[in-house]
Amino acid sequence: MAFLADHLKRIKPSPTIAVSDKARVLKAAGRNVIGLGAGEPDFDTPDNIKQAAIKAIESGKASKYTAVDGIPELKAAVARKFKEENGLDYKPSQITVGAGGKQVLYNAFMATLNPGDEVIIPAPYWVSYPDMVLLAGGTPVEVVCKMEDGFKLKPEQLDKAITPKTKWFLLNSPSNPSGAAYTRAELKALTDVLVRRPHVHVMTDDMYEHLVYDDFVFTTPAQVEPSLYERTLTINGVSKAYCMTGWRIGFAGGPEPLIKAMAMIQSQSTTNPAAASQWASVEALTGPKDFIARHNRIFKERRDLVVGMLNQANGIRCPVPEGAFYVYPSCAGAIGKTAPSGRKLATDEDFVTELLEAEGVAVVHGSAFGLGPAFRISYATRTEDLEEAGRRIQRFCGNLK
Ligand SMILES: Cc1ncc(COP(=O)(O)O)c(C=O)c1O
Repeated sequence: MAFLADHLKRIKPSPTIAVSDKARVLKAAGRNVIGLGAGEPDFDTPDNIKQAAIKAIESGKASKYTAVDGIPELKAAVARKFKEENGLDYKPSQITVGAGGKQVLYNAFMATLNPGDEVIIPAPYWVSYPDMVLLAGGTPVEVVCKMEDGFKLKPEQLDKAITPKTKWFLLNSPSNPSGAAYTRAELKALTDVLVRRPHVHVMTDDMYEHLVYDDFVFTTPAQVEPSLYERTLTINGVSKAYCMTGWRIGFAGGPEPLIKAMAMIQSQSTTNPAAASQWASVEALTGPKDFIARHNRIFKERRDLVVGMLNQANGIRCPVPEGAFYVYPSCAGAIGKTAPSGRKLATDEDFVTELLEAEGVAVVHGSAFGLGPAFRISYATRTEDLEEAGRRIQRFCGNLK
């Protein structure tokens, strides 16, 4: 339609939302559907965090605009978090707060990308990265990280992907959708490449930092290679570990001129994130954190349950991921087979469509994340539902001809 802007043609609706919509339609029609598509914890926001927001509302602190990119109390709490958890020194003027990690990423791309600027994105990737880059006028450069390599980028691959036009290398560890997380040594191998390529900036999306299992130790690029500090934007937020996806608070630390530019974009688009959510986030970052370990014990049990069940399904191969709350099994062994409906499974999208129709299990196809044939399961779901979904997937794969 001539009325709509041309840049809309560059992007597509989120495939993860499309799956949830399809599942909702089936549910409304009375089908028993288990949704494993959502990227958010099934746990509620801890009570002390809710109370901090209620107190802010009742005392009038949530009624008015705040500083565009965060109240001083939240910036101070974020600075302390970066220092204590990541060994990174950021002054308040180097910190920005937005409406979720998503807005922070978007601000960063809008503030830095000119036409032709390239952003290296390891695949499988979070679905929003390439579209955000495109919307901001840049060029996503996808580099496939194979299952055999643990879905992790190798230093040679990074080196090869860098061109004179590379502006950012975007890293996400632990990863949505694969759950893969880089060890310190693996990160160091990548940062060694970047040390030799001074024109490349590093955007690290550490959103799943706290969701790691089996004694995995999380590290972030500027911590592993301090000489990259001046050209790194370290992004994080409260959505996942603090069970606060609905509150919409994300933040980043980075070089002051970049942080200022990002605040300017935000000032001319959305202004401050909701004040009550900012006060809740102060409590999240400074209050008790024991619930994180409690949740992680449950997540780890669920991960092991799901991986075990998937590896017993015909044609499915599922590695054990280090973190986040996703598993990313290959369904290569099912491709080319015929579903009970008579449809031949030519792609992973066919696989997930037939799985939903035959067994009422909603998952997202891997090609949406840039690497197939595979699919993503979120195990941030009730354990009983995961057990039932595992049984249904086994039955579906067993019935393929
Ligand atoms: C890798 C990754 N980064 C960023 C986000 C955005 O998080 P937020 O809800 O804080 O915008 C998500 C959410 O799914 C994610 O998976």
